[in-house]
Amino acid sequence: MVKFTRWLIALPLLASAHSVNTAVESRQNAFEAIESLVDEAEDLLDAREIKWQKLLAVSAQLNAQGDIVLNAFPKGSHQNSRAKPRIWEKWGHFEGMMSQMDQGFKLLHKGSTTQNTRLALQGLEAAADTCRSCHRSYRSFW
Ligand code: HEC
Repeated sequence: MVKFTRWLIALPLLASAHSVNTAVESRQNAFEAIESLVDEAEDLLDAREIKWQKLLAVSAQLNAQGDIVLNAFPKGSHQNSRAKPRIWEKWGHFEGMMSQMDQGFKLLHKGSTTQNTRLALQGLEAAADTCRSCHRSYRSFW
């Protein structure tokens, strides 16, 4: 019985440590993917003849990775990561920046669907504007 009780206490602790690590890993992977997908989208939009099908696929992936990031900052999950603890003190501001990035990806996707270069560029730029400013405030330097 003693053993059983101990398990009841230990299990939720294990579960939450595990889910925090999973969140850190999944957001880092998502950000890595976002970085190379943004580069890819820039190259595609730079080309004289835009490959719309390819751009559509890239922007769909950006939206998917953006969704992962949106849900991968559980409270206090700064350990073993470059996320600064102040994220959760300024959650409203941080969340606003995440959704600005997300809105940009949505606009890029809309521009890709309608083959509207200007709209697609506008979305991509709006998203790319958020990278540096968020990192400056909320990502540690090591
Ligand atoms: C809302 C804030 C925010 C925005 C917007 C943001 N990032 Fe980040 N980014 C972070 C934080 C915080 C980390 C550190 C995550 C960690 O270590 O757990 C990070 C980490 C990264 C990493 C490193 C992943 C790793 O393995 O350590 C890359 C690459 C990256 N971001 C690229 C981008 C790009 C490209 C954009 C813009 C399109 C962007 N980020 C937008 C907050 C942001």
